Amino acid sequence: MAKRRIRNLRALVRAFFGGARAREAERQAELGRLRFRDGQAIPHHIAFIMDGNGRWATSRHLPRSMGHRAGVEALRRVVRLCNDYHVPMLTVYAFSTENWGRPADEVSALMGLLWETIRTDVDRLNSEGVRLRHVGRLEGLDQDIQDAIHWMEDLTRNNDKLELNVCFNYGGRAELVDAVHEIIAAKIPPDQVTEETISSYLYTRDLPDPDLIVRTGGEMRLSNYLIWQAAYAEYYSTATLWPDFGEADLVAALDAYASRKRRFGKTDAQLAAESNAENGNDASPVEAAGDANPSRNGTYPQAARH
Ligand code: FPP
Repeated sequence: MAKRRIRNLRALVRAFFGGARAREAERQAELGRLRFRDGQAIPHHIAFIMDGNGRWATSRHLPRSMGHRAGVEALRRVVRLCNDYHVPMLTVYAFSTENWGRPADEVSALMGLLWETIRTDVDRLNSEGVRLRHVGRLEGLDQDIQDAIHWMEDLTRNNDKLELNVCFNYGGRAELVDAVHEIIAAKIPPDQVTEETISSYLYTRDLPDPDLIVRTGGEMRLSNYLIWQAAYAEYYSTATLWPDFGEADLVAALDAYASRKRRFGKTDAQLAAESNAENGNDASPVEAAGDANPSRNGTYPQAARH
């Protein structure tokens, strides 16, 4: 009797770990598939609009603040996934300049959540090589939050395994207004103000533009998010609510990105010619354009983007 129980227990343990091994093998195969199939198709920089926390909470009869708390959990998961999938930079929209208009208890919950998350997660993220940046206006945030932001930025300044930018008290229009004020204060003559000048006065001056914007929660708008930087980003919207966003959702977004043609305002033939020139290949532009479009997998050099 006892022997049979032990046999059953062993079979159960084998089944459990065998299942976990199979799942891990499946996951590795999926990672391998993406890297192999898409080469450089993995976007360098994904910017997320983490929408749907409120609906997630309401559908469970929970206060909205619990949805935001579940949103932080999803963010932890997505940082891990981006690392697994070799996405080196992500930017998240955590609090917009317009969010000040939400009920006071929700605003205060979001402020508290940022402070708490910095306190609980930054040491671990630092030891994992993650660089953290704040993007947005510091002015208007409580002093303890500003101090926490300075601390996390200083601590992680030399990390380069993955870069996580948190847009907090961020608005795309406010960012442009701030940039114009600074340009005027710097007395730059109007005829010397170029697109590069403006980019260099944005909060994101040190960051590359996003390649892909992912919005959860099903809406199809930018909501004042990175409006200058997103000029040539690919856009992807999913009905999944942010707290539910997981590996399958990220893979779907990456697959969608890999299938897009990025032309940056040019024609297929021009881009094929540029790509051939880069690779030292002298095939005619027309011939090359008939080929699988090289822009489809995002392999264009950064220089071609501007
Ligand atoms: C939009 O969902 C989400 C926000 C306004 C806040 C996003 C914040 C987090 C995910 C957590 C905070 C992050 C950090 C880094 C502390 P919504 O509330 O508008 O959702 P709804 O459309 O369903 O109402």
